[in-house]
Amino acid sequence: MSTPQNRPVLQVGPLKPSLAQTLQDDYAAYVLPDESGEREEFLASHGGEIRAVVTSGRTGVDATLMSALPNLGAVVNFGVGYDTTDVDAATARGVVVSNTPDVLTDCVADTAVGLMIDTLRQFSAADRYVRAGRWLAEGNYPLTRQVSNTRVGIIGLGRIGSAIAKRLSAFGCTISYHNRHEVEGSAYTYVGSPAELAAAVDVLVVAAAGGGGTQKLVSREVIDALGPRGYLVNIARGSVVDEEALVSALVDGRLAGAGLDVFADEPNVPEALLTMDNVVVLPHVGSGTVETRAAMEDLTLRNLNSFLESGQLLTPVPMPVGASG
Ligand code: 8YV
Repeated sequence: MSTPQNRPVLQVGPLKPSLAQTLQDDYAAYVLPDESGEREEFLASHGGEIRAVVTSGRTGVDATLMSALPNLGAVVNFGVGYDTTDVDAATARGVVVSNTPDVLTDCVADTAVGLMIDTLRQFSAADRYVRAGRWLAEGNYPLTRQVSNTRVGIIGLGRIGSAIAKRLSAFGCTISYHNRHEVEGSAYTYVGSPAELAAAVDVLVVAAAGGGGTQKLVSREVIDALGPRGYLVNIARGSVVDEEALVSALVDGRLAGAGLDVFADEPNVPEALLTMDNVVVLPHVGSGTVETRAAMEDLTLRNLNSFLESGQLLTPVPMPVGASG
C-alpha cells in the first residue's frame, strides 16, 4: 500500500511478530525508536499524528510519552495486565485504554496449576535428575509433596484466580481467597488479609493485577505466615511479591518452595533461585500458547479497528472512579 500522509498508529515496544507485521502492512504504523535522541526527534516530527498506540504489558505508555502525543485517544494493550501504562495520566487526558481479558484466562490458569504441581512434586528437578544419570547412580528420587487435597489460598479472585480455583477444586483442594472486596456469591472462603490467608493454607497462589495498589502485597510478613511448609506460586506480576524477602526465605529454608512465572525485573531472575530444586522458574510463559496468543492478537486488532472507526474500544479497562475521561 502507498504510505498515507497522516499515520495514526504507533507501535511502542516489541510485539508478537505477526501483530507488528499487520501494523506495518495494514496501518503503515510508526514504530517508536528505542534510542532516546532518535525518539525525541521522531516525537517532535510525528507525535501530533498519532491517535492510537499499540503496546504490550512489557512496555506500556507512561505519562511522559503520552504528553508527547497530543492527539492520542487510545492505548491498545496486548495482554490482560496494563500496569506499565499510566492509567491516571490517560484518564486525565481523555485517553482510553484496552486490554485482552478472557481470551488468556484458561492458559494462565493452566500455567498456575502446572507450576503448583511442578513445584510440589519437583517434576522439573526429577527430570534433571534422570538426564544427569543420577537415577542410575544414586537410585530413587527423594519423596515430594502431595498436590491433591491441599489447602490453597488465592490472592486476587478475578477471572484468572477463579479459573485456578475451579481447576484446583477438581483436585480436591480447599480454596480460600483474599481480594480487594469479598466476591458476592463465591463458593470459596474469603479471608480479610494476605497474611491471615497465608497462615491458613499450604499453597498461596498470586493472581492479583500488578500496579501501585498491589505493590509487594505479598510482603515478608505474608511469606513468614506461609512458613517452612508453605509454597508460593506467582503467575501475576513480580511486583506483587517482595522478591528480596521471598529469596531470603527460600535461602534460609523458611519457605518450602516457589513456582514463579513472573519476576520483579524481567528477564532477570535472582541468581540464588537457579540452583534450588524446590523452585521452578519459568520465563513469563503464562499465556504463551499458539491458540491464546492468536486470540490476544485478534482482540488487540479488533480494539484498534473499533477505536479508529468509532472512537470506542471493545474491551476498555476500568478507569479510576471519579475520573473525567
Ligand atoms: C503476556 C501477560 O505475556 O497478559 C498479560 O498480562 O503478562 C502475558 O499474557 C504479556 O502481556 C505480553 O507482553
